[in-house]
Amino acid sequence: MSILVLYATVEGHSRKIAEYAAAHLEKMGHGVVVGDVREPGFAIPGRFDGVLLCAPVHMGRYPASVAQFILDWKTALAEVPTALVSVTLAIRSGIAEDRAEAEGYPAHLEKKTGFHIPKVHHAAGALKYLEYDFFKRMLMRQIASKEGGPVDTSRDHEFTDWAALDTFLQEFADDISLAARA
Ligand SMILES: Cc1cc2nc3c(=O)[nH]c(=O)nc-3n(C[C@H](O)[C@H](O)[C@H](O)COP(=O)(O)O)c2cc1C
Repeated sequence: MSILVLYATVEGHSRKIAEYAAAHLEKMGHGVVVGDVREPGFAIPGRFDGVLLCAPVHMGRYPASVAQFILDWKTALAEVPTALVSVTLAIRSGIAEDRAEAEGYPAHLEKKTGFHIPKVHHAAGALKYLEYDFFKRMLMRQIASKEGGPVDTSRDHEFTDWAALDTFLQEFADDISLAARA
């Protein structure tokens, strides 16, 4: 099967997830093209058996490029299995309301685009203290402290559960194979 994996990213972690997903799907025997959702180039949804989007939430929303891409391509996306890896930190929060908010972000995207995303995986992202400027570092440290996360700003912290992502990718690949046989 041929699979398109597109990502949006601000600090690189969703790209890392997309590249990991692409490598994993390739290992499973699929042909995969991975790219930036802002510049899909020749990699357009109608040419693939499945499409995986990987996108982070910053300040309560996905990058505008993600909604724009879905709006531009929703007819083609509706024809093949399409999935979203939603990358957030709130999904691992110690506070139940924060986790519920993270679980609700894909629904906001659906509302904005009028496109139902049939399959969603919530992946915890990363705290890149070493890459943030001073103010962002302080803000993220404060949020981490409130949510029970790490406050050691002398290093980055990565929370993605790669084994859970593997399981999700297997299910997604199975959906694609099933849809192709139908
Ligand atoms: C300025 C800023 C705002 C963020 N806002 C949110 C948020 O509203 N909800 C959330 O769950 N995570 C939030 N995060 C965490 C990011 O989703 C997380 O760091 C993710 O790994 C970023 O992915 P990226 O490297 O692909 O941009 C925020 C991170 C930063 C730096």
